[in-house]
Amino acid sequence: MEYQLKINGRMRSLNAEPGTPLLWVIRDELALTGTKFGCGVASCGACTIHLNGNPTRSCITPVESAVGGEITTIEGLDDPISAAVQSAWREKDVVQCGYCQSGQIMSAVGLLRQNPRPSDEQIDSFMSGNVCRCATYVRIKDAIKLASD
Ligand code: FES
Repeated sequence: MEYQLKINGRMRSLNAEPGTPLLWVIRDELALTGTKFGCGVASCGACTIHLNGNPTRSCITPVESAVGGEITTIEGLDDPISAAVQSAWREKDVVQCGYCQSGQIMSAVGLLRQNPRPSDEQIDSFMSGNVCRCATYVRIKDAIKLASD
């Protein structure tokens, strides 16, 4: 079936079976490989994108549910909050292996859009669904706090 999706500000046409997870459409059909597969069951956060501005697990989001919406992937972040988060990530040298970091950044940007000055507890709560196998959690929190200043 053919779908038209708005992704990173551009309308894109693609073919996919109904029910195909948005993650696979983004990676395999649109070649936007910054979004990662981790668990496939909404438990790790590696596949986090924004759908209508909200952090969303693309591994459990069927392609048809994104029709008419605005999808943003890590490649499409271009607002001041995203720039501040990415700069803070570099300054705090957050990344270790890097696999989960696109999802971490997508969630962090979502948090700071909703709450520009989150408390430690609010950061912990919002980011708790994003798992990092290198345990970079302290640096992630430091970077979010830096980006929120
Ligand atoms: Fe989607 Fe883990 S791959 S949450």
